[in-house]
Amino acid sequence: IESRHRLRVSWMAPYACQRRTPLLHSNQPLTEVLETLAEEASFSGSEGRSLAFTRAASVLKALPGRLSALEELGPLPGIGEHSRRVIQDVLEDGVSVEVERVKLSERYRTMKLFTRIFGVGVRTASRWYQEGLRTLVDLQERNTKLTRQQQAGLRHYEDLNTPVERGEAEFIGQMVQEAVQRFLPGASVTLAGGFRRGKPHGHDIDLLLTHPEAGREAGLLSRAVCLSPDQGLILYQHSQENSFTLHESPEAPGGRDLLDRFERCFSIFRLEVRGGPGAARGWKAVRVDLVVAPVSQFPFALLGWTGSRHFERELRRFAGHERKMVLNSHTLYDTRRNLFLPAASEEEIFQHLGLEYVPPAQRNA
Ligand code: CTP
Ligand code: MN
Ligand code: MN
Ligand code: MN
Repeated sequence: IESRHRLRVSWMAPYACQRRTPLLHSNQPLTEVLETLAEEASFSGSEGRSLAFTRAASVLKALPGRLSALEELGPLPGIGEHSRRVIQDVLEDGVSVEVERVKLSERYRTMKLFTRIFGVGVRTASRWYQEGLRTLVDLQERNTKLTRQQQAGLRHYEDLNTPVERGEAEFIGQMVQEAVQRFLPGASVTLAGGFRRGKPHGHDIDLLLTHPEAGREAGLLSRAVCLSPDQGLILYQHSQENSFTLHESPEAPGGRDLLDRFERCFSIFRLEVRGGPGAARGWKAVRVDLVVAPVSQFPFALLGWTGSRHFERELRRFAGHERKMVLNSHTLYDTRRNLFLPAASEEEIFQHLGLEYVPPAQRNA
């Protein structure tokens, strides 16, 4: 009787962008431990090891049901020996001793605390840890040198580590839409990131701006939002001009630079709230990423800013290794035919790549 409910998975497409990965899946306890190990590896600067755990977690997220024994899996791509051992421990004992040890370790806890500060990456956090810093109070008491961004991150630490609700994301999207419309009628604002993939909450709000007439979008952010006189609304902002031109040769396939070069603004908004954290104050700080794309690059930008991060990484790996194409958030370049492949929609980009279309809700790799 039990065997009726057993999974039997002998094959899975090797790239996450060839699979459908829903937001909710049946193997949460397993993916959680693997992602903890991925995080811990990245805290130690072991990017390769981190990626291996992330890949394994991503494979489990795409399984058609709950895994109850390791034997149910054939030799699937992307689940290495170490991951198998951890999966087995959790299936048999309910916990992995290795993961429990990681979670309790001073280094992991401190790194987690510090990397949750807006503007603090693994390298900075690691340096602080080595200097003996352990708490947020330590940072203040020892007069640690902070960038303007990190100062804002520390000032709004609590708020920025409180999940943003979908309703809040939609409200801010609406607000930006109105501000942008006033300066440039016809401009549009699209909610990307985790919310577009169906997440009920997130760590920030990713908004993509464009205008149907090429060129009209240029400078939109600085004019409409980030440098607006309505300064009370924006607690922090760091803007960057567009620095992308089509005339330069695209990055070599496998190039690691995931960053794009759109006009953008990393900001913290002041959002009026009635309930929840910050209710007493009447407002809470919320992270908002604003990106402006020319209409011809919009589908690439939308695809690139919808995520998940792992899904994006896999798309680019697939494009490079399997198609000899270079994909980024601006363009798709075919290195065999030496030409850019234009696209008017995300669907067309998948078509160029010879991939079945994966809707946003299935990109939670
Ligand atoms: N992204 C990017 N360049 C950056 C930051 C993010 O291209 N400098 C892309 C990422 O690749 C990702 C998407 O923007 O695909 C959203 O990133 P992020 O907001 O970090 O993650 P989410 O998936 O939205 O999840 P969360 O709820 O944590 O925000
Ligand atoms: Mn190992
Ligand atoms: Mn996001
Ligand atoms: Mn973001």
